[in-house]
Parts: sequence; structure tokens; C-alpha cells
Amino acid sequence: MFRIQRCQCSEQAGWLPLRQALWPHASEQEHRDEIGQQLSEPQRYINFVAYDSREQPVGLAEASLRHDYVNGTDNSPVVFLEGIYVAPEQRRQSVAAQLIEFVARWGREQGCVQMASDTGLDNLVSQETHIALGFEETERVVFFKRQL
Ligand SMILES: CC(C)(COP(=O)(O)OP(=O)(O)OC[C@H]1O[C@@H](n2cnc3c(N)ncnc32)[C@H](O)[C@@H]1OP(=O)(O)O)[C@@H](O)C(=O)NCCC(=O)NCCS
Repeated sequence: MFRIQRCQCSEQAGWLPLRQALWPHASEQEHRDEIGQQLSEPQRYINFVAYDSREQPVGLAEASLRHDYVNGTDNSPVVFLEGIYVAPEQRRQSVAAQLIEFVARWGREQGCVQMASDTGLDNLVSQETHIALGFEETERVVFFKRQL
């Protein structure tokens, strides 16, 4: 059994380390800044941590309300799954499934009728997970940049 809890303070157990595991290229300060930003706008951002039976944090989902156009959707706003991570030794126990259900419930409470997400073209496990949990693929895109 896993317990799911919304993050409501920057020191909530697991939030920072699980974020660091998911996005290892960001500095600790960048993570702390983003956590602060999210806590300052609770109507826009939602975050859940999953704890195991020993109260160890094992999974994280972060999501936001997006009012700008989100590829493949036809409603606004949509709840957008910004990131999801489960500790390797706790995978395939429906932790991600539970976290996403909590995000979906929050999105419905905000009036959304669609939830969107994205993942890397090479992240096949994430793609399998999305499909298994009710998402349908909409678009594949290539990002560009040019120096000015
Ligand atoms: C993607 C991730 C969050 C899935 O977490 P999880 O808790 O293991 O997922 P669940 O147990 O809820 O899996 C739900 C379903 O997704 C599918 N699935 C999950 N992992 C899978 C895998 N390795 N291979 C194939 N299908 C998989 C299965 O259908 C699974 O149901 P089942 O176990 O009953 O067969 C986890 O693998 C992870 O943290 N990966 C690294 C971070 C990442 O890539 N995040 C996504 C991009 S932001």
C-alpha cells in the first residue's frame, strides 16, 4: 500500500530528492526555486508524493494547469503532467497509476476535461506507461533553436 500526499511545504519529505532523481541536470538551487514557485501558486500547480508502508518517499508527480495551447488537445485549460518519477525498486506496483489518478482528480476539480503530458521519443517505458494509464498519443514534435 502506498500513501499519496500533496506537497504543501518546501521541506516535505521526498519532494526535493525525487525531483533531483527525475531532473538530475538542474542544480539544487534551481529545484528549490521551482518548488517555491509552485508553492506560491497553489491554484496553478499540484504535486503529489507517494510513501511506502515504512513512510519512505517512493514516487512523485508534478502537474500544472495550462491555459496556453497544448499540442493535441482541444480544451483549455488542461491539466498537464509535468513530471512523474518512481524509485526503481518500487516500479510496477501501480505507484505511477495512483499518482496520475490523484492528478486527474485535481484536474477535474479545476474544471478540466482533458489531461495532457509529454515524454522523450526514446523513453519507451514512459510511453508504455502513458498508454497503459489511459493516455492516447497525439503528436510527435521536433524542437529547434537559433542563436540571435
Ligand atoms: C514511467 C514510470 C513513472 C512508471 O512508474 P511505475 O510506478 O512503475 O508505473 P505503474 O506500476 O503504475 O505501471 C502502470 C502500467 O504502465 C505500464 N508499464 C510501466 N512500466 C513499464 C515497463 N517498464 N515496461 C512496459 N510497461 C510498463 C504497464 O502496463 C503497467 O501496468 P502493469 O504493471 O500492471 O503491467 C517509472 O518507470 C519511472 O519513474 N521512470 C523514470 C522517470 C520517467 O521516465 N518518467 C516519465 C517522464 S517525465
